[in-house]
Amino acid sequence: MKILVLGSGGREHALAWKLARSPGVSVFAAPGNPGIAKVGTCLPVVAGASYLEIAEAIGADLTVVGPEAPLVAGVVDAFRAHGRKIVGPDRRAAQLEGSKVFAKNFFAQSNISTAEFVTVENETDARKALDRFGFPVVLKADGLAAGKGVIVAHDRNTAEAALGTLKGRLVIEEFLRGEEVSFIALCDGRDVVPLAPTQDHKAVFDGDTGPNTGGMGAYCDGAILTEAQTREILDGVIYPTVEAMRFTGFLYAGLMMTAAGPKVLEFNVRLGDPETQPLMHRMASDFLPALMAAASGELAGVKLEWRSGPSVCVVLASGGYPGAYETGKAIREIDAAEATGATVFHAGTRMGAAGLETAGGRVLGVTAAGDDLAGAIDGAYEAVRRVAFEGMHYRTDIGRKGLERYNRKTVGT
Ligand code: AMP
Ligand code: GLY
Repeated sequence: MKILVLGSGGREHALAWKLARSPGVSVFAAPGNPGIAKVGTCLPVVAGASYLEIAEAIGADLTVVGPEAPLVAGVVDAFRAHGRKIVGPDRRAAQLEGSKVFAKNFFAQSNISTAEFVTVENETDARKALDRFGFPVVLKADGLAAGKGVIVAHDRNTAEAALGTLKGRLVIEEFLRGEEVSFIALCDGRDVVPLAPTQDHKAVFDGDTGPNTGGMGAYCDGAILTEAQTREILDGVIYPTVEAMRFTGFLYAGLMMTAAGPKVLEFNVRLGDPETQPLMHRMASDFLPALMAAASGELAGVKLEWRSGPSVCVVLASGGYPGAYETGKAIREIDAAEATGATVFHAGTRMGAAGLETAGGRVLGVTAAGDDLAGAIDGAYEAVRRVAFEGMHYRTDIGRKGLERYNRKTVGT
């Protein structure tokens, strides 16, 4: 069976790595990356050619879409029109990620709990909204912005500066307090299979300080949510959305677990990056049957099993990221890192004349499992310390919030 993965980052490497373990599967990726090339065949994406043409050329039995851009552009509609199986939402449902205004209006209409908000079209209305909400306040650009369209302003000066950089239509909303959780469910338009909960680390520096990034690390651990919280999210957020939009593919709810219950910060219509790295690492089941079932409207009764120990992924980023950074730095000692038992997923790498080199802001996702969260964290950082490239930086506190949660529970019981 031929499975095509669309995309070229760490999320796609983790997916390809997992699918390559399914019996009888050949993995293809377009365009892929040097990590994916170790488990499958990378196909160049030639200007002017479509993903559908690539899938037809290789006779793909199933295509899984990594990033949001092709979904928002309607890749799923195009595949379905030609009878090709694909995992992802149609163009209409992809607007839940493609437009913050569309998503917020959808939450309001569907009674999905989210931060209080207003939509503004110009600076005058934006200033009025700032007066209404006070500080801190959150400003969000309407369209896709690769993780950079959201600014949390703690004071008026920061908010004013944000109005200068975030152009066009904005959502301005109430600042929510609590712990963030990424909740991702595989959907077939009616039925839903939740993946295990994960926690991302969006800010660039330790202690959640510095500007937001695409994600500096994530861990996957069943203990992030109680069963009651999972039920509340499924009933209050996931099922109403799947029903209203006949949602197919991965529905990712970015949630704030507030004192008043879970509230949606954002929807993504795809797997998270880096959440997918610890998710694929920790998943015990063969993933292919679930993906096939999702693409065929046959998810009812499907279950996914997870290893009991958590998995932790630490992102190694280029010097300067999420600001400007240089590429082309030689990457050393990935084999030594993997010799510790960790798995190194490639995010922004390429093969240069002298071997593997950096090609993006987020370069690698070093991922390890453990019997418990402390063990998984130690395993990931032991491997991280063996990798090197010029300018490399990473957070040293991935998973720490999870450890604090255990400590609170142990002290309290
Ligand atoms: P988003 O792209 O909407 O998920 O926003 C990116 C990040 O900004 C989130 O992961 C949160 O850390 C933060 N954020 C967004 N909206 C809010 C909010 N209403 N209150 C507090 N933090 C927020
Ligand atoms: N890690 C956050 C995202 O994938 O949007």
